[in-house]
Amino acid sequence: MQRRSFVASCAGAAAFAVSPPASAGEEVLAPTPPMGWMSWNQFGPEVSDPLLREMADALVASGMRDAGYTYVCIDDLWQGGRDRSGNLYPDPKRFPAGMKAVADYVHAKGLKLGIYTDVAEKTCAEQPGSLGHEDRDAATFASWDVDYLKCDYCFAPEDQETAIARYRTMAQALRRTGRPIVFAVCEWGPREPWTWAARIGAQLWRTTWDIRDIWDGEYNDYHLGITNILDQQAGLAEYAGPGRWNDPDMLVIGLRGKGRYTSPKGWAPPNDVEYRSQMSLWCLMASPLLATCDLRTMDPATREILTNRDVIAVNQDPLGRQARRAIKDRHVEVWKKPLAGGRVALGLLNRGPQTDEVRLKWTDIALEPSWRVRDLWTKEDLGAVRDTITRRVASHETCVLLLS
Ligand code: GLA
Repeated sequence: MQRRSFVASCAGAAAFAVSPPASAGEEVLAPTPPMGWMSWNQFGPEVSDPLLREMADALVASGMRDAGYTYVCIDDLWQGGRDRSGNLYPDPKRFPAGMKAVADYVHAKGLKLGIYTDVAEKTCAEQPGSLGHEDRDAATFASWDVDYLKCDYCFAPEDQETAIARYRTMAQALRRTGRPIVFAVCEWGPREPWTWAARIGAQLWRTTWDIRDIWDGEYNDYHLGITNILDQQAGLAEYAGPGRWNDPDMLVIGLRGKGRYTSPKGWAPPNDVEYRSQMSLWCLMASPLLATCDLRTMDPATREILTNRDVIAVNQDPLGRQARRAIKDRHVEVWKKPLAGGRVALGLLNRGPQTDEVRLKWTDIALEPSWRVRDLWTKEDLGAVRDTITRRVASHETCVLLLS
């Protein structure tokens, strides 16, 4: 798999003001962060028609669909090649009935289908890419009734200008199909896509290198733990909003060290508290929520974490604001997300090795002095809290509070 060196010579944010993704009167695609399941982290090349159908079934049976998880997304390694006319086709062994049959199946379950390509000649796993075939591939995806396209950047030039041009070409090709297809840019952050991707017609863009099934630690230059990715989101809140989302990569919740590429050998997977923290933080950051574990066999703790509707409601809040880090004080951080109706969600994250008693004065984070407070994990109503709240937060836990 080709990897790429980091390019720091990106233009500053000011040069690329974000403009609205849709013209007046047009439907906003992805008005709230997309939710679903993606094949890569757990299955890599094992993606197939039966797997996708079973995952669609599991989304329904587990209650995840009803909690908002809609997209069944096929990542890299679905491809069979291009036929003589240049049309992409899926691997005939793993997709004997073709891709439209998979789309029909997931649609009949009230779900949507996502697929993957790359804006170079090859994808990251060296499958045929879409460079020079944008209109043809967009038309193919539309003919299969695809609803979401993840578009990677392996084997593409490092400069920002080329990235913008290539993603714009793909976005325009998708638009020309007339089908509303959510467009997910995946150039990992070096070219600051938060400053241009919404303008060229994308609804989300990866902001970092690939996540690994670990709490903390840079596994290598291109693979990061949950907290390393979190730190890279802290300055990006202003770029998010309805129809345009920063994407800090998939949920590793429930992989439990078994992710095909994502769970590195010799590293302990996150524990339940840490997986719960990923859910909390990704919800606070208005991040896309793409689960990746095997939903057919997930344990009750994983299911409970992925389907906490109160926390999901924070993620899906119609205001579409991304939390900012309001306090960073040694081990303790406070993340603050404004919600519709003047409410606020807070995340109290303890990155330290021991339980901490967190005391937070509302005025320290520029809030009015009195709020009704609910803890969205313990489900406790804490009543009206004046001036200061105190919560015991375990090591690596994120306590999520709803203030109204
Ligand atoms: C890149 C992306 C990953 C995944 C793989 C597939 O590494 O960042 O999310 O799509 O390619 O090859």
